[in-house]
Amino acid sequence: MKTSCITVLLLATVIFHLKAQIIPIETRNFNLVMSVGKNLKLYQSYLGNKLLNSIKELPQGKHEAYIPSGTDNLFEPAIRITHADGNPSLELLYVSVTSKKQDDNVTTTIIHLKDSKYPVEVNLNFTAYYNEDIIKSCTEIKHAEKKAVVVSNYASSMLHFDAEKYWLTQFYGDWAEEMRMEESKLTHGIKILDSKLGTRADMYQTPAFFLSLDNPSTENKGELIAGTLGWTGNFQLAFEIDEQNSLRVISGINPFASAYQLEPGKTFITPEFIFTYSNHGKGQASRNFHHWATNYGIMDGKKDRLTLLNNWEATQFNFDEAKLSGIFGEANKLGVDLFLLDDGWFANKYPRNNDRAGLGDWEENTKKLPNGIGHLVKDAESKSVKFGIWLEPEMVNPKSRLYEKHPDWILKLPNREEHYYRNQLVLDLINPAVQDFVYNIVDEMLTKNPGIAYIKWDCNRMMTNTYSPYLKEKQSHVYIDYVRSFYSIMERLRKKYPHLPIMLCSGGGGRTDYGALKYFTEFWPSDNTDPVERVFIEWGYSYFFPSFAISSHVTSWGKQSLKFRTDVAMMGKLGYDIEVSKMTEKDLAFSQQAVKEYKRLKNIIWHGDEYRLVSPHEEPRAVVMFVDSIKSKAVLFSYNLNTRFGQTINAVRLEGLDPDKNYKVKEINLYPETSSRIVRSEQSFTGEVLMNKGLNVSSNMALTSAVIEIIAQ
Ligand code: GLA
Repeated sequence: MKTSCITVLLLATVIFHLKAQIIPIETRNFNLVMSVGKNLKLYQSYLGNKLLNSIKELPQGKHEAYIPSGTDNLFEPAIRITHADGNPSLELLYVSVTSKKQDDNVTTTIIHLKDSKYPVEVNLNFTAYYNEDIIKSCTEIKHAEKKAVVVSNYASSMLHFDAEKYWLTQFYGDWAEEMRMEESKLTHGIKILDSKLGTRADMYQTPAFFLSLDNPSTENKGELIAGTLGWTGNFQLAFEIDEQNSLRVISGINPFASAYQLEPGKTFITPEFIFTYSNHGKGQASRNFHHWATNYGIMDGKKDRLTLLNNWEATQFNFDEAKLSGIFGEANKLGVDLFLLDDGWFANKYPRNNDRAGLGDWEENTKKLPNGIGHLVKDAESKSVKFGIWLEPEMVNPKSRLYEKHPDWILKLPNREEHYYRNQLVLDLINPAVQDFVYNIVDEMLTKNPGIAYIKWDCNRMMTNTYSPYLKEKQSHVYIDYVRSFYSIMERLRKKYPHLPIMLCSGGGGRTDYGALKYFTEFWPSDNTDPVERVFIEWGYSYFFPSFAISSHVTSWGKQSLKFRTDVAMMGKLGYDIEVSKMTEKDLAFSQQAVKEYKRLKNIIWHGDEYRLVSPHEEPRAVVMFVDSIKSKAVLFSYNLNTRFGQTINAVRLEGLDPDKNYKVKEINLYPETSSRIVRSEQSFTGEVLMNKGLNVSSNMALTSAVIEIIAQ
């Protein structure tokens, strides 16, 4: 009986394989379709708006789906391998396809390819998230040659397009000026967005883009792909237009200085490239990402987040137990959930009183904290505030005991002068002893002080003079193995501490990618907390990340009113980094009320559909709204950044509401003793009016803001 079942199964598989000429990968609103040619090569037949009935009629497609190097390819390849015998070519032929439904929403399709002459296998994996309209793709490479092969290109994804024109929206920046946005028409040849920073992905270039077909897309119009690579290190996104005006988009780890020796029997798995298709502009693409991030992409995406008071901007390195104790009381007064102790609490031989010393020596500084962290946790708890702590476990200052004890644990060239950035060096995470060290820093902190409820994990430099003492002659593995080691530490930590909230930070926004966000609950988008700058920076991040992941703090950076600073912070994950004791009575009353309002509205802001209504890149103001899934409640944020003399400010058409519902519109979060200049109290309108005629949401005074609540009656 058993044997016959297996025989039937095998037969079914063979028949399926013989028939599998068309391979559809589908979500609710789009498909990616592959086909197998008579020559057994795999082709991309289609990528676009959902085809309901005619998939079978699609022609084969002219682009080989995942183009190898060394045979007949004339442009940028997806994969390049040098075999053990020195042969630098690959010809990938279709073997089979398997498709597995993980549940009603998620299906993984694996297309198995094999070289025609060598025992090299390449599996293209596509996981489709039906409701979210997201496809995640990655590649597995393995072989059974006698010795190692060298893999020097290893794309996570290759996609092909045939449009008349292509428009690329990219994001770039630097410390404190993250996520600047730029759109340009692609020209013939190759355009590369990449990073060679090693420890970070983001910072100078962001591993995310929009590619609009034929015309630039707007928020609501245009056909486009939005994509991002989930990899916390060197990435490369390449866009190449060939002589026939076809575009190939190749996304993956940056092959720069990273030829990888792959041993027989081992599998090289690329990071995931996550993308969506929209024929309704960028807004829809962002909402797809937000839904996917909530349900799958970000650690505990559906769980609560803590509001907090951080002490970095308020105290920098200058604090002691008494000062902190006072701040716990202030956090409690403010009404936030948690106090976050930032940099400066550790190291004794070389005390961490500035950023030049102490990094690596993770014991409490006994002068500042004679009773240790445990005492602080209890003290905070006695004031009904949870306690969180800053760590930067991957780094070391040369002025530290760690540096003196373990010079061989540091990434640096043996025969050149050390090169510092923020006076520090990167640890050689590839060394298993260093992985244990990093794991133990966190584990010991949490076991010794079980009340710790939050971690801010920082990473304040990139790699330079890069050399791993542990890797010895395999230096071309360093960039890849560093990131894999970082993930393996996080895997271990997440096994033991599955739900501890951890903020991902990297000198501001150096690390913001879905590779790391599997392990982190939120990220620090920028050290620049000037609210006008933050409107732009968070606008940029909102294209790919949901608001609950974008930590957004009220600080004293920027000269705007407290109301303006608070309204900006409220469109993300709200926190404070400010001297509460110096607030006036009115400021405090306003802030206490704001925290309460935020807690009341957070679920709409975090999980509602986000509509970017007025772009600060197009007008001197920004308007964003969030609508809950049943269109019964919405919150709108409006920021006037500057008003020119005589400028008129138009009403804004709202989006995402139910045209047939009647909505009450009310300005909230007003500063004490002020009333709304925009909305008369108790006004109500139909969704149809709000979405067609619009609503006045901005005063004409520069640097004013409004939060408007919209409730169906
Ligand atoms: C980085 C972070 C800041 C702060 C400092 C502490 O710059 O981005 O938020 O934690 O480190 O040194």
